[in-house]
Amino acid sequence: MNIERTFVAIKPDAVQRGLMGKIITRFEEKGFKIIAMKMLEVSNEQAASHYAEHKGKPFYDGLVKFIMSAPVVAMVVEGIDAVAEVRHILGATNPNNADVGSIRADFSPVMSCNCVHASDSVESAKREMSIYFDVEKELCTKWKTRMEIILDDLSK
Ligand code: CMP
Repeated sequence: MNIERTFVAIKPDAVQRGLMGKIITRFEEKGFKIIAMKMLEVSNEQAASHYAEHKGKPFYDGLVKFIMSAPVVAMVVEGIDAVAEVRHILGATNPNNADVGSIRADFSPVMSCNCVHASDSVESAKREMSIYFDVEKELCTKWKTRMEIILDDLSK
């Protein structure tokens, strides 16, 4: 089994609209393990670092302003093929193209306020989680979810 960690951020639009619980529930109910989570106000430095790849694009300034406009909930999510599967649960960046039943299809009216971000690769996940967490100290790794216990028992 390919166990991966990915970085997820519930964005200001979803926090302001009271959707935090519903979004977290999507990952928990699927069987993913949340191993770190915090609410924070994103600093200028964190925003610039997180969205460095988009610097120079027409939507960059709006993106940075938006991510700092209200708190975000930053998470590290672990599980089987977590990078791709978490993005599957999110749906396409543009909610108009998102699969029915995905977070963005269900909750987001427009790409600039698409409720949630998730890393696009294992490398991006490592980089992004280190912007928001002290990875050596803040990840809760010494526990098992019910799903992990079930899978452990089946493999005996
Ligand atoms: P996210 O997954 O956080 O990554 C970059 C964000 O830029 C993206 O979600 C969108 O919310 C936002 N964005 C705004 N306009 C565009 C655009 N034209 N193309 C891609 N992303 C955009």
